[in-house]
Amino acid sequence: MRVCLALFTIFVAAYCRKVFTGDQVLRINAKSEEQIQLLKELENTEVSELDFWTHPVSSDLPVDIHVPYASLYAVRKFLQDKEIPFHVMIEDLQELLDKEQEDLQRSAMRGGDAKSFDYAAYHQLETIYSWMDSMVAGHPNLISKVHIGSSYENRPMYVLKFSTGGSNRPAIWVDAGIHSREWISTASAVWMANKLATDFGVDPSVTALLGQMDIYLMVVTNPDGYAYTHTNDRMWRKTRAVNPGSLCRGVDPNRNWDAGFGGPGASKNPCSDSYHGPSAHSAIEVNNIVNLIRNHGNFKSFISIHAYSQLLMYPYGYICTDIPDQAELHSVGQRAVQALSSLYGTSYKVGSICKIIYQASGGSIDWSYNVGIKYSFAFELRDTGRYGFLLPANQIIPTANETWLALKYVMEYARDHPY
Ligand SMILES: *[C@@H]1O[C@H](CO)[C@@H](O)[C@H](O)[C@H]1NC(C)=O
Ligand SMILES: [Zn+2]
Repeated sequence: MRVCLALFTIFVAAYCRKVFTGDQVLRINAKSEEQIQLLKELENTEVSELDFWTHPVSSDLPVDIHVPYASLYAVRKFLQDKEIPFHVMIEDLQELLDKEQEDLQRSAMRGGDAKSFDYAAYHQLETIYSWMDSMVAGHPNLISKVHIGSSYENRPMYVLKFSTGGSNRPAIWVDAGIHSREWISTASAVWMANKLATDFGVDPSVTALLGQMDIYLMVVTNPDGYAYTHTNDRMWRKTRAVNPGSLCRGVDPNRNWDAGFGGPGASKNPCSDSYHGPSAHSAIEVNNIVNLIRNHGNFKSFISIHAYSQLLMYPYGYICTDIPDQAELHSVGQRAVQALSSLYGTSYKVGSICKIIYQASGGSIDWSYNVGIKYSFAFELRDTGRYGFLLPANQIIPTANETWLALKYVMEYARDHPY
């Protein structure tokens, strides 16, 4: 359902925010491979507008489906008829969204100035962009803003570069928010940028790290999608590219990389949330990053931050065979999540994308690994499904703080193990 404020026709397009009143998120615990197959069929019908937050893979992993109000009766009946166990995880999606909006409006009053900025809140793109300028202005000898190009809708794409000098030092790439509805990813990256800035010169380990390496941190990797989650559809995941010949917009920017492009775990249907796009690197947002990484040539680690599920993953996603560095990356991952868990006991699983969630082609860390960046990892942050993509703002700082420990472990490991 859409609510359009049709007061002035020229403003209609800008204020058609999708509402989710009565929509529920169901958690399904399939008992058998047969039930998983049934859920896969349900996912592939695509007539019902079901939004799979997690996908049917095996009976070990729950499947979370956001079901629009209009489809609830049919989906519940389907599950009951097939005796597939489920329970309601989110009673009314719109209630959670209303709460989120209230918090967001309140914190927006404090603005983008780094001194008054509310790190315990989600923010609109404009606020984050002005916060970036304030960060750079406050730390001119450490942080610079690198403009790597524009998004499909012509928004600037910025990377915060943390560097204490040197020429083309070994570097670490961190991107957040490539899937726009995963707000906790961007919010955590914003907090971590501030952490780096405030710890530099104070905390010996951060000071030492930045004495040897540069960190490139992209807090909003999909700015069009992010803006759209604020103005139109909180559940938007893809870019906003127009797909010729289709009414559906957007490419999944994490199925668009040149790594098994177009293979299993990506869709050729432009209406799908995992549409891979017409060709590898067709998404300008992806292409801009690829150009930066290639031109730089000295990245040692590439880390992508997603949500949710509490996983730390390494390549590959597009095939299920082990990478040559499997043992090493697995143990780095294990120790990184140990550090993460030490703070609040949050538990994470570690494994290759293919083995730990599902086969997915065209992903960023498969590409980075294949171009020679050994320490390639992807995080799925909190939670394990209670709130899913709508993680309450009071979990931003704890999530960022614990994730930072894992990130720092990987960065220091990359520094200490040159290759
Ligand atoms: C973050 O974690 C550290 C321990 O690593 C702790 O001392 C600090 O108080 C935490 N910060 C916040 C803002 O919760
Ligand atoms: Zn994601």
